[in-house]
Amino acid sequence: MIVMTLRVLVLGGTGEARRLAELLADRPGVHAVTSLAGVTEHPVLPAGDVRVGGFGGADGLAAWLAAERIGAVVDATHPFARVMTDAAVVAARSADVPLVVLRRPGWTERPGDRWIRVPSLAAAAANLPGERVFLTTGRKDLTPFTDDARRWFLIRSVDAPEPPLPPRHAIVLARGPFTVDEERALFREHRIDAVVTKDSGSPMTEAKLTAARELGLPVVMVDRPPLPDVPRVETVEEALAWLDGRAQDG
Ligand SMILES: NC(=O)c1ccc[n+]([C@@H]2O[C@H](COP(=O)([O-])OP(=O)(O)OC[C@H]3O[C@@H](n4cnc5c(N)ncnc54)[C@H](OP(=O)(O)O)[C@@H]3O)[C@@H](O)[C@H]2O)c1
Repeated sequence: MIVMTLRVLVLGGTGEARRLAELLADRPGVHAVTSLAGVTEHPVLPAGDVRVGGFGGADGLAAWLAAERIGAVVDATHPFARVMTDAAVVAARSADVPLVVLRRPGWTERPGDRWIRVPSLAAAAANLPGERVFLTTGRKDLTPFTDDARRWFLIRSVDAPEPPLPPRHAIVLARGPFTVDEERALFREHRIDAVVTKDSGSPMTEAKLTAARELGLPVVMVDRPPLPDVPRVETVEEALAWLDGRAQDG
């Protein structure tokens, strides 16, 4: 009997993608490649094969899927990596490769939270409470705040953000996870009175929400972009089960 190997592309850049790659590396009958955008200077590399850099849009990805004889795609990118997800959906359709999106759930408001939900970063900038604002949107999402000369911003990112930046700011370079104690201490040290975050839903960066709740700070929560109408799972285990189904189909 010939046993076929299922070749899997994992679109990465998240903790879930790394965990999936680790589990797939030990799985018989599967060969996985994780793809990273190459935007982080010193990325935490996943287990198994890794490729780095864009594909050149949906057409480039479709060609790559065919050339690499990929039998299944797991889009485990960040919930805000919308361009990549949209391109992956188009490419998988045109190359006739099954695709699933692995997206952890968003965060849920709890008693004591003072969240202001907004649909976009621009809306966050237009609805900012406070004078000393903690920005954890990521270094590429600062543009809507650069004209705000009235407020002071604490910007936290993994790699240094590039100009333009808001005129009054300080930068903290750090990679999560962070503890509630660390977040509370940071907020107090910088006299933060409002927090802006995207609804990533990540347990690695959730402590800031607990610290904000404890200190009674408002949190401007940017909603996720909508997902295309494709199969979706919320956990790594569900993604593995979906892949098992593809292996059997093949
Ligand atoms: N957006 C966030 O807040 C955030 C937070 C944490 C981690 N990340 C991770 O950082 C990466 C970039 O995010 P983004 O928001 O800049 O993406 P994006 O705006 O959706 O994508 C921009 C371009 O980057 C390339 N790209 C993105 N993800 C890729 C991947 N996994 N493998 C290969 N190419 C990729 C694609 O280039 P081509 O068109 O040339 O293929 C894509 O068109 C993603 O892997 C994402 O998971 C993003």
